Amino acid sequence: TIELSLRPSRLDEYIGQDKVKENLHIFIQAAKMRNEPLDHVLLYGPPGLGKTTLAAIIANEMGVQFRSTSGPAIERAGDLAAILSSLEPGDVLFIDEVHRLPRTVEEILYPAMEDFFLDIVIGTGPSARSVQIDLPPFTLVGATTRAGLLSAPLRDRFGILSRLEFYNEESLCEIVKRTAEIFNTSIQDEAALEVARRSRGTPRIANRLLKRIRDISQVRGETEISLDVTYLALNMLQVDSVGLDHIDHKLIKGIIEDFKGGPVGLETIAATIGEEPETIEDVYEPYLLQMGFIQRTPRGRMATQKAYAHFGMKENDES
Ligand code: ADE
Repeated sequence: TIELSLRPSRLDEYIGQDKVKENLHIFIQAAKMRNEPLDHVLLYGPPGLGKTTLAAIIANEMGVQFRSTSGPAIERAGDLAAILSSLEPGDVLFIDEVHRLPRTVEEILYPAMEDFFLDIVIGTGPSARSVQIDLPPFTLVGATTRAGLLSAPLRDRFGILSRLEFYNEESLCEIVKRTAEIFNTSIQDEAALEVARRSRGTPRIANRLLKRIRDISQVRGETEISLDVTYLALNMLQVDSVGLDHIDHKLIKGIIEDFKGGPVGLETIAATIGEEPETIEDVYEPYLLQMGFIQRTPRGRMATQKAYAHFGMKENDES
């Protein structure tokens, strides 16, 4: 599908995240020289920055199969045992949301990661016994939005830890142009830059916005995505001048208007705007924190001076 082909398949096609790329490149080269599987990799950072893409690239660069699952999809130890024992030597097993693995599943992962064997109990009661099954050597690539959510024993078993960062405008602009090319669509430089500016440092958002802008441009019968159409489309999509959408607005304005700028607890904010606390914490807050629109304090979230200014509001100092 197009969606899949948007993802680069090699490290040198992957734009941005230079430090992560540089490190992975060396570790992959070394593992290949030794004819060993790559050490286990933990990719962490906000959603939409390319963790799944990088995992697939690792498999491709190592010349092995890419197998993919997620923490919540593996309910029982047996589910994971089945996957692990079907791997071929050197394969990459990608586990998205690895912090959501059930505890019982996590425990069978320890010896599997460390020494490539499974320690499982078969049967129940007096006839229960433990059997050990050898596994092919493999590479576990785990992804999580927050490394802090991983248990320490699991985190310690990853030899390579890579933190993905929000992309700068330049990288995002390159990604937008690359995606436009894959879509066979031409886009003006200033239009691509505007999409980059309003994508919250996130390629997934940039590509999603580009698709909608392309729709609008096409319906208007234009042959090239212009800055005009880009402005129009971004307004339609309720994306503001710095890329904040209506949920970001609800969140910040909620803190300002309902809680006098805070501090206010995450659960309280979540309840007032009707989103899950985890979604706010993983999806919305990281960019707002990085941009300095909100602050985290021991007593809760606060709107910053920058947030007030962005919404043209005044901070009042009655407390
Ligand atoms: N598409 C989405 N993310 C990308 C990236 N980091 N590099 C190239 N193309 C991408």
